Amino acid sequence: MRKRGLLTLALATAALAALMLPETTHGQRGQQVQLPDGPGKELVQAACTKCHGLNFITNSFGFTREEWPRLFASMVALPQNEANAVTDYLAKNFPEKPDIPKAKIIPGPVTVNFKEWAAPTLGSRPHDPLAARDGSLWWTGQYQSRLGRVDPRTGAIKEFPLDTPNSGPHGLVEDRDGNVWYTGINVHELGKVDPKTGAVTEYKVPEPGRNPHTPIFDHKGMLFFTMQNGYVGRLNPANGEFKLAKSPSDPSYPYGIQVDSKNLVWYVDFRQPKLASMDAVTMEISEYTLPRADARPRRLAITADDIVWYTDFPMGYIGRFDPKTRQFKEWLSPGGKDSRPYGIAAVGDVIWYSESGVKPNTLVRFDTKTERFQTWAIPSAGHVVRNMMATKEGNLVLAESGINKVAIAEVRGTRSTAD
Ligand code: HEC
Repeated sequence: MRKRGLLTLALATAALAALMLPETTHGQRGQQVQLPDGPGKELVQAACTKCHGLNFITNSFGFTREEWPRLFASMVALPQNEANAVTDYLAKNFPEKPDIPKAKIIPGPVTVNFKEWAAPTLGSRPHDPLAARDGSLWWTGQYQSRLGRVDPRTGAIKEFPLDTPNSGPHGLVEDRDGNVWYTGINVHELGKVDPKTGAVTEYKVPEPGRNPHTPIFDHKGMLFFTMQNGYVGRLNPANGEFKLAKSPSDPSYPYGIQVDSKNLVWYVDFRQPKLASMDAVTMEISEYTLPRADARPRRLAITADDIVWYTDFPMGYIGRFDPKTRQFKEWLSPGGKDSRPYGIAAVGDVIWYSESGVKPNTLVRFDTKTERFQTWAIPSAGHVVRNMMATKEGNLVLAESGINKVAIAEVRGTRSTAD
């Protein structure tokens, strides 16, 4: 009994440590581990350690002989004979693990058609997507210090290299003039890209602000952004003036951020079972505590009725918070407690989100009126869909970080009970 308790504690600590890993490390991520001996081992050690540790391989779900080359080709281009040897080695030593969380597919009334595009620069880790007003789909190439853009109608792709190397572009948002703003999480900057010229303008976040994370514009054109070190910031693009507010909680990691119809700014705290609202003018913060102490909300979406919806990443729930009644309600995600609900978006009365911890990753539709779920397997398997955003037509754009792709999910059928 006691032993089991300790083991559970050790596992919980390990899981927590994994959650706490900064997303900002420069250079190589993760640790080196001992690989099993066999033909191809040296090749893997040489080809696969440039961007991350070998623990990415040993800790992965494991993959089939068909999946391995598809996955690593999104990171590194190898001559065919080397690719074959690497595939043989990986398929033999790291086949799909038997106990990984599997996607649960729930049929329903809606049809979704996925289209996916690979980012031209290998291993760029598309972190967040942006549905721009002109119909184009943008993404942050976090590990390759660039933004990308695809026109879903023609498939034409363009990348926008940023001025500062290793800036770690993380979140992105469009302003009224069509410029795309991003957070340079590694270098404590916000940046603005002019899509017409590719020109980049950088804004240094003042101390004690660090690691700007997710940006959003309020209705007045002020740029709000969360920071990994427990701050929320505001930049006035008109004069470059910053103002920062400290979260009342400690530790605190303000993560997803959105603005409601009354220009109240909402964020979720990924180190606390809390969500919070912030007055856009005074930057005064009010916190609301979720029902379960072990919840860690990661991203949020707000429906037109100003109800706040959030994904509880480590515990596998989605939740609803009504600011008027201060009532919470939560639902276990179809993929269960290890499904890791992550990116979330609202379209009318419908909530869409990703399950980033199941294989393949799923797109989940939750009808807030009937409280019914429908799910789809993401064609490329997603490999951790970290964020999504609704287009003005009610489709979804997705970033598929581990497989170096972005996607659009075109929704047909009952889109929402409201429109
Ligand atoms: C150019 C940089 C780069 C190189 C070289 C590279 N990778 Fe990766 N790899 C990445 C990025 C970026 C990710 C995504 C990390 C994330 O999302 O946290 C990743 C993730 C992974 C994952 C986890 C994916 C998942 O869905 O579980 C595996 C496994 C992996 N790499 C294997 C390899 C192998 C095998 C090689 C060598 C053949 C390799 N990588 C070489 C950049 C690289």
